[in-house]
Amino acid sequence: MNNPPEAREHWSNSLGFILAAAGSAIGLGNIWKFPYITGENGGGAFVLVYLLCIAVIGAPVMICEFTMGRHTQRNPVGAFKCLSPRSSRLAHLIGLGILLSGIFLLCFQNWGWGVLLIAAGLLIFRYGWILAGVMGVIAGFTILSFYSVVAGWTIGYVFKAVAGQLHFAEVAVAKNHFLAFIDSPAWTISCHFIFMLLCVLIVYKGVKAGIERWSKILMPLLFLLLVVLIIRALTLPGAAAGVRFYLTPDFGKITTGSVLIALGHAFFSLSLGMGAMITYGSYMGREQNIFAATLSVVVLDTLVALMAGLAIFPAVFAQGFGPDAGPGLVFQVLPTVFNQIPLGAFWATLFFLLLLVAALTSGISLLEVVTAYFVDERGWKRHRAAVVFGLAIFFLGALCAISVADWHRLEWIHHLLTRIFGHVKDSFFDVMDNISSNWLLPLGGLFISLFVGWIWGTKKAVDEIRQGSHNFADVHLVSLLAGLKDDPSHNSELHVITLASVWGIFIRFISPVAVLIAFLHTIGWLDFRPKTPPAEPPPIEQPAEK
Ligand code: PHE
Repeated sequence: MNNPPEAREHWSNSLGFILAAAGSAIGLGNIWKFPYITGENGGGAFVLVYLLCIAVIGAPVMICEFTMGRHTQRNPVGAFKCLSPRSSRLAHLIGLGILLSGIFLLCFQNWGWGVLLIAAGLLIFRYGWILAGVMGVIAGFTILSFYSVVAGWTIGYVFKAVAGQLHFAEVAVAKNHFLAFIDSPAWTISCHFIFMLLCVLIVYKGVKAGIERWSKILMPLLFLLLVVLIIRALTLPGAAAGVRFYLTPDFGKITTGSVLIALGHAFFSLSLGMGAMITYGSYMGREQNIFAATLSVVVLDTLVALMAGLAIFPAVFAQGFGPDAGPGLVFQVLPTVFNQIPLGAFWATLFFLLLLVAALTSGISLLEVVTAYFVDERGWKRHRAAVVFGLAIFFLGALCAISVADWHRLEWIHHLLTRIFGHVKDSFFDVMDNISSNWLLPLGGLFISLFVGWIWGTKKAVDEIRQGSHNFADVHLVSLLAGLKDDPSHNSELHVITLASVWGIFIRFISPVAVLIAFLHTIGWLDFRPKTPPAEPPPIEQPAEK
């Protein structure tokens, strides 16, 4: 039972849409993850590689998602359903490949993966591209289940900061405090519940009165908090070392591994590959400019990631800490840093509030994907869908919350999974993170670009993009860059190097190949690491040769 398209709510204007989409993109990925992976991968050079991935792969795929959403006015499953041909040779080919891999694995007695791949192959034969949309809805579930646990930690830390409990003289103490906190289920589950409740309340209210309204309040707040924190960090004595580390590229530190991390993170950070942007695009009116919206969202997301680094590294260096603390950077090093500066509790409260705001606008977009599917495709009422799936995700997330460190509270699930799949990741939390970030998002991104590039076709997509985009799509790129976009002689139909044609090439060739390579690398089928271990220092006493 499908809702007629005219019943669909729309954003009130481009600003509302851009803030909502930027709200989805800007999240824990920008403020929690980006600084620490930059710290681990050598600073400035990594930032440049990340920017390249955003421009070359992220932006083109985002245009695909917005276009599919606006054209079909549907959730991801509905969008693929609307645009899929009755039968697709490419989908059959992919299905066959997966089926054969499954049979191959069975021959090696890898029962769990073998059966899973055979089932996936058969489903692809039956449902084709629609499965890519289904994957998006599943990703909404799995990502939100662990995302909201981390968001719950930030709620806990806001409470702690307000109560003045974050007095740590050294990182080791902060670390123990953090580990004890995330391993106390009563706390983490309550905080995770509060976060899910906030998401449900906003999604329950609908697109305009809920998501758009709150994005318009929360996003400027986020910006303000960030600017205040940057000023504080930059004015600390010794901040310059952090700025230098962050902004001076050292390409010696870039490895293939870090390029792939940058690519994977570009997807996660821009909320691509799982249909969040298809869903938000589906509430977009035809008068809105897809190119301009994409540019704004990408620039805002990147700006906030860069700004977060600028708020964190100078403070970390100024207080004499190293940048490579990993995932604990924000929860362990920062409270220690704040403890050493005047009004530390106040700055800590502001920081964790910032993190919470960022997580909230992303959390609602994840819940909205699932809600939109049940509203559009199953005819549910929005209220019911938001509450039921908010609760379902809460329960799944509760499992993540109680098994962050290891499996000891969920031995039976661990046992079951190990029997089926052999080795499994360290905890249920890791399993959820791994399934979504390493599998569902990259595969989703791959399928979206293949689908728009080769199945629906760039021609039809560009027809949709043209609406509302003035002559952006068709003006010669050189004229566009030269500021001559509206000059009559620069808009002839003879132009071939246009924004639209460049986008088409990226989406048909460059994005799918890059994403496929990154995916095969993350799952371990492609390995670029040098076969021999890197040269070790020569033994001290080497017998003379010859
Ligand atoms: N983009 C969000 C972040 O950076 C995470 C997210 C991923 C949100 C996928 C929605 C969909 O934190």
